[in-house]
Amino acid sequence: MLTMSSETPSTGGLTPAQQTAFWRDGYVIIPDALPPTTVRALLDETHALLDNFPLSDHPMTRFSTGEKSAHVGDDYFLTSGDKVRFFFEEDAFDPSTGNLTKPKAQAINKIGHALHEKSPPFAALLDPALNPDLLGAGTSSGSVAAGRKESHPAAVARALGFKDPRCLQSMVICKQPEIGGAVPPHQDSTFLYTDPPSAVGFWYALEDATAENGCLSFLPGSHRWAPVRQRFVRSATGNGTEFIDNAGPRFPLGEDYGEIVGQSEEGEYKLGEVKAGSLVLIHGNLLHKSEKNLSRKGRIIYTFHVIEGEGTKYDERNWLQPSPEGFTQLYRD
Ligand code: FE2
Repeated sequence: MLTMSSETPSTGGLTPAQQTAFWRDGYVIIPDALPPTTVRALLDETHALLDNFPLSDHPMTRFSTGEKSAHVGDDYFLTSGDKVRFFFEEDAFDPSTGNLTKPKAQAINKIGHALHEKSPPFAALLDPALNPDLLGAGTSSGSVAAGRKESHPAAVARALGFKDPRCLQSMVICKQPEIGGAVPPHQDSTFLYTDPPSAVGFWYALEDATAENGCLSFLPGSHRWAPVRQRFVRSATGNGTEFIDNAGPRFPLGEDYGEIVGQSEEGEYKLGEVKAGSLVLIHGNLLHKSEKNLSRKGRIIYTFHVIEGEGTKYDERNWLQPSPEGFTQLYRD
């Protein structure tokens, strides 16, 4: 069970200072978590995917985290949990004609949601044994497999206290030059709800993320007092998705969590500018957001989310449903 605790053992994966920062702030930035060879391999795969997906059979689905978009509810989105699919930036279309205003590779907002299963380089990040060469094992700069065991996702999950960590989704988010959409303040557990909440985001910068190109920003400490009030679920009518009030627990277990009435969710967000290769860990209750990318520089990142499989309930209302094999297990204590 994932609980906030000063008793979390230091097992590698995270230094004591990184653990302290994560539980205090709700996020922590780990520079150089990926060596340049791995970043290059993941970027090459991203560009190959963007260049090679066919438009001919694509439903031209756009992605938005806003509540008004009707597009996210379609079948292409709802059945993407075990596939590699492509979702367009909202601003990639000419509103008068509906045509793309950019080449397809520069029009995609995100690729999801099973890169960690279906794409060999991304799968190898989660399980280096699958393909160490692809991630540069044996090169002078090392790799996740060969040289960076301390920041391997499983070691990080263990340091965070997960008993049965399950990777349930993964995404490349492109934040394209000039049209990369803003993401309003949200908590990831709204979208990936367990009872009680347990989600943690692993967010890897594959390119430098700056204020100019729409890096993340965080409301430090908000994971301790901001309840998960809503859930993003499959619509009760059987078609599409909707936000509903969360009738279940709104915080993980632990005495350090609790709603503070009057606490402003409009507080001072802190910019998370990071270099390529950095890992940012994001607590599922933490409020975070990003601005539009109006610059000429893209900002490609890779993120996957982990939930606790032991002692939690993942119900059938969640928009993302597991395949018969279940969500990907990192390890089992
Ligand atoms: Fe998020």
